[in-house]
Amino acid sequence: MSQTRPHIVVRNTTPEDFPSIMELSRQVYPFAPPYTDVQLGSHHRLFPEGQFVAVDTASQEVVGMAASLIVRWDDYDMQTNWRDFTDNGMFTNHDPVRGRTLYSAEVMVSPSRQRQGIGSKIYEARLAMVTRLGLLRIRGGGRLRHYHRYADRMSADEYVIKVIRGELRDPTLSYQLKCGYHVIGVVSDYLLKDPESLGWVAILEWINEAVATPEDYAGRDERFQIPSNTSPLS
Ligand SMILES: CC(C)(COP(=O)(O)OP(=O)(O)OC[C@H]1O[C@@H](n2cnc3c(N)ncnc32)[C@H](O)[C@@H]1OP(=O)(O)O)[C@@H](O)C(=O)NCCC(=O)NCCS
Repeated sequence: MSQTRPHIVVRNTTPEDFPSIMELSRQVYPFAPPYTDVQLGSHHRLFPEGQFVAVDTASQEVVGMAASLIVRWDDYDMQTNWRDFTDNGMFTNHDPVRGRTLYSAEVMVSPSRQRQGIGSKIYEARLAMVTRLGLLRIRGGGRLRHYHRYADRMSADEYVIKVIRGELRDPTLSYQLKCGYHVIGVVSDYLLKDPESLGWVAILEWINEAVATPEDYAGRDERFQIPSNTSPLS
């Protein structure tokens, strides 16, 4: 039986979307407090171009979202957690003057609408924005969602290496690797109270080849390298 694929549009977030985003975060992260009106208003005020929603045009339902800010990476340590990278979820550390790194604070798709290509459309829109602004790269923490299944047997580093080699599959990390992101570190206590990742994330990076220099690729941890010519848009 043929199934009509939903028509999805990705556009910048408006204040009218806030209630839907709050509901979405309740569904995706039931263990954490949802985004607040104040936080979403702050994102919108500081960096409207960095905030996206995916909308099903048939129902006008918000089925996904992404939130980001620009940071000067050298102001932070690799071990910095989500709360500090986002200034308690307010993005008041957004620094478009000195910063060249888009920090991916959030990407989420409604659980009932995942695996329909919606996340890819969001990533694509965000990438177009980064290219348009001439930013150097995207970085962010990718939750190790299935790590709780292996935590008694291996370290998070070992888990990530196995996912990179294709020996294990993680619903978030495997997908992000396929999208052309590289792991540059593995960090604990990033998202508190996440029962799936146990707080562990892989720090992911996508580099804008149009503006990068060889130094921007230097110093990557050999253990996390993969031979890859995958396009982030594939
Ligand atoms: C990570 C996330 C944003 C991905 O969103 P998504 O809409 O499911 O992404 P896509 O549908 O574009 O791709 C996901 C998978 O579905 C596959 N897919 C896409 N369209 C498909 C279709 N029509 N039929 C079957 N599979 C499809 C993709 O190939 C991809 O496969 P892979 O996992 O083997 O790589 C989503 O899973 C999510 O919200 N997770 C919870 C929150 C989270 O962890 N966010 C990341 C923060 S670190």
